Amino acid sequence: ADTTTDTTTADELPTLPTDRRTGCPFDPPAELTALSDKPLRRMRYADGHIGWLVTGHATARAILADPRFSSRYELLHLPVPVEGVSGELPPAPVGDITGLDAPEHTRYRRLLTGKFTVRRMRQLSERVEQLTAECLDAMEQAGPTVDLVEAFAQPVPALMICELLGVPYADRERFQSQVATIFDQTADAEAKGEAYTALLQYLGELVLAKRAEPTDDLLSDLTTSDLTDEELAGIGGLLLAAGLDTTANMLGLGTFALLSNPDQLDALRADPALAEQTVEELLRYLSVADPLPRSALEDVEVEGQLIRAGETVTISVQATNRDPHKFPDPDRLDIHRRATGHLAFGHGAHQCLGQQLARVEMTVAFPALFARFPTLRLAVPPQEVPLRDRSNIYGVISLPVTWDKE
Ligand code: HEM
Repeated sequence: ADTTTDTTTADELPTLPTDRRTGCPFDPPAELTALSDKPLRRMRYADGHIGWLVTGHATARAILADPRFSSRYELLHLPVPVEGVSGELPPAPVGDITGLDAPEHTRYRRLLTGKFTVRRMRQLSERVEQLTAECLDAMEQAGPTVDLVEAFAQPVPALMICELLGVPYADRERFQSQVATIFDQTADAEAKGEAYTALLQYLGELVLAKRAEPTDDLLSDLTTSDLTDEELAGIGGLLLAAGLDTTANMLGLGTFALLSNPDQLDALRADPALAEQTVEELLRYLSVADPLPRSALEDVEVEGQLIRAGETVTISVQATNRDPHKFPDPDRLDIHRRATGHLAFGHGAHQCLGQQLARVEMTVAFPALFARFPTLRLAVPPQEVPLRDRSNIYGVISLPVTWDKE
């Protein structure tokens, strides 16, 4: 049904602006900021659907916590076009819990939360320190000019998630490019499908190996639950993909942001105890995982407007994390602010399962990097740093850096 407002025709409605390159690479697109005067407004989707866009922080939180809004892929309209995808999306593949609602979601989620406690993640922090130091040693050897993404931002989270899950790091060649393809918005549906199948096949082999010979890791641990091999491979694939790409982009883009804000970097260097706060502020400021779509299961009134059953609502994480009602002077990177309450990890039933791990990794990695290389700087002009603006996870493709050798 055509549910456009009476004053605006469908053609005049905005689509989701995605190009962050215009202006500052860390800021939301100017077109998006221009739409932030209203927390909730109508938006035109890739397939012509007239749905909604949320830019207000409080509105986003309310919707993400409301079970009347579904995460099921088959109910969603895509906010931005994806090559080779038209019509209805297929339901979530087995084990991909991000595309499920309660009660299916709850069953998997309960099982997994037990493995991702704050305590367990803290225990991993000593390992993070070791692995980070090893990566920095290798980087120092390779330098003084390296691509920080390849030398540091990718290997640190990759080593950690491999260790946590019990995936051999030496197999990285086999899964790293598949994960990149899965998140790449410019890759067509067929290429994504192939990458996903290959990833699942790899995990499937690994699950069988863990069943036969359990080791001390999360995947082996999960084989003692009532999950099937297919479910285990799917969940393993999801964790591996989520663990590899997100934190890596935060480390790469976060380093770029700190190098571009030397006063903030100096403050962090002067007081490494600010690391946790810096990480929260970078999560808010950069919002790498964006946007989050949901579909209304029934008519819901929000902000005095009627969202009808079947309509898709897109939460712009970037816009909500720059909402001035929640974060004063939002476009300023300020590591002294308390950025808690940001939506970079989502909110509600699907809030990021790996957030404690990600926090531990970043809290260790950023100070270690800047302590090791006090003269670290970009090796190219900032406007030449290639950005991942066509991916579900924003970041830098590479970050050429250099330092003075002692
Ligand atoms: C969910 C962001 C790191 C595993 C999410 C969601 C966001 C997010 C926004 C919510 C999606 C939604 O509501 O639809 C991030 C960011 C990270 C990060 C910014 C790094 C800084 C990780 C890591 C892991 C992980 C390291 C794995 C170890 C997951 C999983 C879900 C999820 C399994 C799905 C949870 C569910 O649907 O119940 N993440 N994530 N994430 N994340 Fe993360």
